[in-house]
Amino acid sequence: MATPRILDGKRCGDALKAEIARGATAVLKRRGRPPHLAAVLVGDDGASRTYVEAKVRACGTVGFRSSLIELPATISEQELIDKVKELNADAGLDGFIVQLPLPKHIDPDRVINTIDPRKDVDGFHPVNVGNMVLGLPGFLPATPSGICEMLKYYEVETAGRHCVVVGRSNIVGTPISILMSRNTYPGNCTVTLAHSRTKDLGSITRQADILVVAIGKPGFITGEMVKEGAVVVDVGIHRLPDTSRKSGFRLVGDVDATTVGPKSAAITPVPGGVGPMTITSLLLNTLRACAS
Ligand code: GUN
Repeated sequence: MATPRILDGKRCGDALKAEIARGATAVLKRRGRPPHLAAVLVGDDGASRTYVEAKVRACGTVGFRSSLIELPATISEQELIDKVKELNADAGLDGFIVQLPLPKHIDPDRVINTIDPRKDVDGFHPVNVGNMVLGLPGFLPATPSGICEMLKYYEVETAGRHCVVVGRSNIVGTPISILMSRNTYPGNCTVTLAHSRTKDLGSITRQADILVVAIGKPGFITGEMVKEGAVVVDVGIHRLPDTSRKSGFRLVGDVDATTVGPKSAAITPVPGGVGPMTITSLLLNTLRACAS
């Protein structure tokens, strides 16, 4: 058991952010105003607020303008759709996101389908999802795109390797499984998409050369489910109560780092792995939105 290589998302994200900042300066010179990202937060879910505030803060670090649009949890679906239409028409805005999840009385698909695909920097609109599936230009969803950027930065070999993805969400599991199977780098993997109905999950995950876990359960993947020498990408982030910490909690992923770490060749830490890369990819998409 060797010490695993730590795939540091902050280091990799900072390198990418330096490039994005240069791009933002060029945009400012070209058209007299910087890239502008808006984030819509509906209601007051604590985790969503933390994520959205981190996205808005990150804009400042690369010279972007940002707007946080806070709406009450009681807003109707139609009112939110009207707000999205207003943002679509706002020529001073390059891209925007509507943070998920939305309150139960609002259908997220109706809202996402209203976003102008050219401003959909989350890459959630069906037009962008379709372009991704076909390998055409468009916005890639931030978390899968961040994972790909990270694999590139650390020069992880992917061609011909078996990538097992655990979790089939629209935001992470499904798109990363598509991206890892594409005929490009990173990609060219043989991909297995496992999920909550997969039988004998351990026998599948043990075949993974690259294991991407986005199942939303703390410490779900344990050491005996991982092959010696695998590259492990942990997308989960959970707050667990911990009285030994001043904050009263600690952050853990979907992977039990204590048992998986020593078996893996490389692993993303939680926090500081995939999370920072997700935000960086959102910034990259926003910069790209300025070109169109
Ligand atoms: N909720 C969890 N992840 C995301 C994300 O990447 N974008 C949005 N809009 N909502 C999320």
